[in-house]
Amino acid sequence: NMMRVAVIGGEGIGPEVTAQASRVLAWFSERRRLPVEVAEAEFGLEAYRRTGKVIPPETRAAIEGADAILFGATGGPETAEVPPEARREGSLLKLRRSLDLYANLRPIVTDPALYDSAPLKERVLNGVDFVIVRELSSGIYFGEPRGIESRPDGSRRGFNTNSYTSEEIRRVARFAFELARSRRGRLCSVDKANVMEASVLWREEVIALHADEFPDIKLSHMYVDNAAMQIVRAPSQFDVMVTDNIFGDILSDCAAMAAGSLGMLPSASLGPADAQGRRTALYEPVHGSAPDIAGRGIANPLGSILSVAMMLRLTLGRPDDAILLERAVGDALAHGARTADIAEPGRAPVSTAAMGDAVLASLDRL
Ligand code: NAI
Ligand code: MG
Repeated sequence: NMMRVAVIGGEGIGPEVTAQASRVLAWFSERRRLPVEVAEAEFGLEAYRRTGKVIPPETRAAIEGADAILFGATGGPETAEVPPEARREGSLLKLRRSLDLYANLRPIVTDPALYDSAPLKERVLNGVDFVIVRELSSGIYFGEPRGIESRPDGSRRGFNTNSYTSEEIRRVARFAFELARSRRGRLCSVDKANVMEASVLWREEVIALHADEFPDIKLSHMYVDNAAMQIVRAPSQFDVMVTDNIFGDILSDCAAMAAGSLGMLPSASLGPADAQGRRTALYEPVHGSAPDIAGRGIANPLGSILSVAMMLRLTLGRPDDAILLERAVGDALAHGARTADIAEPGRAPVSTAAMGDAVLASLDRL
């Protein structure tokens, strides 16, 4: 039975990195008889120019009919011509929410081939292998009321609401506990319960769920400011980390440096499981549209390519192929392939497409 993948490059470097991930997906379809049907769909500025909508109806249809979505990136100054209402209507945030993508996985793995060039020393990075589970559908990015209001004295006030219900906390925490159970059995829950009410509830619910359903998991708690420091100081201490929307957003960019570059990190955003255990799933690199390097063919496509590995594992039912792809990425790095963001001083970096070539060559070789 054919699986359908909607491929949405989006804006900035999104289409550049997604093109390489698409080549990799095609390799699995041809060489490993992966039954996938790929539908490319427009999203963002180009779509807006052509149709007046950031997410045109055909794109919505492709998303609705898909077993998995491979997304690139959205945003950037070049999109200023899109009016704010159209931008909000077609925002990735809104899409994630409408698909109820509540669990966002962000694995951080340090490849040994990068130890020498990574900004941190081998001592610190050795054995880094953890997953940040970021709550993606609620919290301060979505809470109401929100807005910018004018005040009688002529000044203005901008405000957001940080809000979590116990059910929202429990479902993402349950996901993280189950993930920890399939890994090394340790979960660190990150909050700011010393200051924020939603965090107080977060911690209470995590503790209760642990007692009720996951007594076998070793649970710890950390305040987010300390967690930021610990991720830099000793990232190998973590197995699974679960945290809210805004903390997970910030901490995962921070954790990116343990993997060498933001361009290395993949992600999966998952919705609730249906009766067959299948989840709506959107796969995308952790980074954004990187307007500072867009259009130059130099972006690192590995975050997008590794997102395909997550798709193979979590949606397409091909865990062995996921491992093969992750090994191919490691092999390409071991053979010296480096885009500019991870290049060693004095050695010429390769282009986005050449990094794709290197991964494909490794797939052929392994
Ligand atoms: P960004 O993640 O786009 O870039 C941050 C820095 O990392 C830049 O210096 C960029 O050149 C570098 N970088 C990112 N990905 C890279 C890659 N694959 N290879 C090499 N270098 C890479 O974040 P920034 O600059 O804060 O935001 C730019 C735009 O992207 C904004 O409009 C923002 O809203 C949007 N954004 C979109 C996301 C998404 O589509 N999921 C996520 C984060 C930001
Ligand atoms: Mg972010």
